[in-house]
Amino acid sequence: MRAWGSNAFLLLFVFARTVYGFGGGCECKATGDPHYHTCDGVTLQYQGACAYNLASTCSHGSKDDRFIGFRILIKNKHPINQEDVSYARAVKVDFGKRTIYMDTAGNFKVDGQVIHDGDLPYESKRIIVNKHSEGGMERLVFMTDLGFKVTLDITRNERGDVIADIPPWYKNAGLCGLCGNWNDNPHDDYATKDGTIVENLSQPIRDALIADSLHQHDPELDLQECEETLANSPYTANTCTDDQLQQAQKMCDLDNRKPLKKSFKSCRPVLEEDGINYGGYIGACEYAYCSGIGHGKSTANLGACTVLKSLSDQCTEHGSKAKKKWKKKLKCFHLF
Ligand SMILES: *[C@@H]1O[C@H](CO)[C@@H](O)[C@H](O)[C@H]1NC(C)=O
Repeated sequence: MRAWGSNAFLLLFVFARTVYGFGGGCECKATGDPHYHTCDGVTLQYQGACAYNLASTCSHGSKDDRFIGFRILIKNKHPINQEDVSYARAVKVDFGKRTIYMDTAGNFKVDGQVIHDGDLPYESKRIIVNKHSEGGMERLVFMTDLGFKVTLDITRNERGDVIADIPPWYKNAGLCGLCGNWNDNPHDDYATKDGTIVENLSQPIRDALIADSLHQHDPELDLQECEETLANSPYTANTCTDDQLQQAQKMCDLDNRKPLKKSFKSCRPVLEEDGINYGGYIGACEYAYCSGIGHGKSTANLGACTVLKSLSDQCTEHGSKAKKKWKKKLKCFHLF
């Protein structure tokens, strides 16, 4: 049933645009292979192939949302034979009580119901979905009456680009995800999900830490072969001196260092059985340590600790919680 005629919808859209001036909104983008442009102007880049929280109200799913709660999940995948890049393949938007799914094959679903091309533009209770083809571009668009808009550009087939237009009233309202918190401070966009600021680590490890922490399970989007970046990149710790490298190796020795070995003892086989490259975290941890050492030992430590925390989160996700001992023993205080 169409609750709204398209004219009414358009009028309200124009009205909202006039009153609120969408110029003050955030245009957050995941484009290219992919580059993420946050609301506060930071660019992040990583090549994980999982589902991630692109942007959401932090209180999404609870009753605390001041405005209509939302969450935009993006599913990334490697193109065939190109493990070193990933592209958006699908987007799922929860907006209030509505759920909109769209993918690079050109499919739409609204609240689980398939929307056929013949039914476009599809309008229902203050939302609209539509396909636009012009000038060789092909785009799927989801829009609400008050200027919230998510575009999936499928011009390049399986190499989707995503643009989220978020209206101005969400600024400083508590946003989470790869688009950042939108508080006019670019520095704290370099933060993992739990709020650890990793801005002074070097780019690949910094962005991988942020993105992996924002990996989100979703039955509709999750891939069997979800591949996180941290465990799967061939990191080499080339910014350490020999002495520093020894410290890194000691800090990150998941195989032999007692508190680590013990804490992850029961989790390790579970991860390995699920195809997670446990050993990959050793390299990532050493790399993170060395990538922070230029800013001093505490930044180096923070890098290593954050990678280990990410491993520990993996354990929790895979149903085998790691023991907490390592945090205290390795002085990972910021993670308590
Ligand atoms: C990063 O480094 C800069 C310059 O050394 C410093 O001002 C800033 O506080 C550091 N950020 C963090 C989170 O440690």
